[in-house]
Amino acid sequence: MSVYPIDRAFLDRHRRRITRIYERRSECVDTVSLYIPDGLATDSTPGQFLMVWIPGVDEIPLSISYVDDGIVGVTVRGIGEATRTLCSLQPGDTIGVRGPLGRGFTIRGGKSLIVGGGIGVAPLRYLVYKLLDVGGDVYVIFGFRDRSHMIFVEEMNRLSSKGLIEFYVATEDGSYGFKATAYDLASSAIDEGVDMVYVCGPEALTRKILMLCLERDIPMEASVEGYMRCGMGICGSCVRGIYLVCRDGPVFDRSKLVEIGEIGLRRRGASGIMEPLL
Ligand code: FES
Repeated sequence: MSVYPIDRAFLDRHRRRITRIYERRSECVDTVSLYIPDGLATDSTPGQFLMVWIPGVDEIPLSISYVDDGIVGVTVRGIGEATRTLCSLQPGDTIGVRGPLGRGFTIRGGKSLIVGGGIGVAPLRYLVYKLLDVGGDVYVIFGFRDRSHMIFVEEMNRLSSKGLIEFYVATEDGSYGFKATAYDLASSAIDEGVDMVYVCGPEALTRKILMLCLERDIPMEASVEGYMRCGMGICGSCVRGIYLVCRDGPVFDRSKLVEIGEIGLRRRGASGIMEPLL
């Protein structure tokens, strides 16, 4: 297990910065992207996250979904009090941020397969642009419940129409793209041969792709969730196996995912008790 160096950069990242929302975009029926000016978070790696403070409500971890020209975006699905409140905020409203925190995805060239499901596609959107920056072939597969829950599909379609990526969508009900799961499409792509697989989505998806990558000996990284409170490696609430998600993750490579063992099977909840995921 690694430790953080407590230096000036650490203190700067963990100091809460009060800022105002610059732009708000509705992505689908229950999901919103919020954009804020933040110089520190623009120097981030896809897969890293921000602790976002909603005044008077809570502080929650959110993956960075966009970075450009001093503006940072996070994407949030409104499923609880804090996330619904965040979704309701408007340009000019005040929030606080700490970060960028944690370890992100490794950026490398070659033939990359990006597989995302649901709100898990948020950090992968940022990853797509970073991989395009270093060249190589980028294949993107997003899976959603149905058409009304799709996010970033138009944006990926635009990149695809310019020949920058290959992009496929799976919906469970067949209302858009393939009537399939993201795993179905990903397994076909893996069969054709890829150099690296990146995953973020439901843990059942991560687990199935992990098994496939182990079988085919393909490098893989996945972003996983933990129940976060401090976001700085102190409280221990985000522990998965021998790792702290906020400090050692949220992105883990194939060998660490195997070491964690419980991926897709169980996770510690808010009470600290292990809860089954199946
Ligand atoms: S959230 Fe406190 S140790 Fe990770």
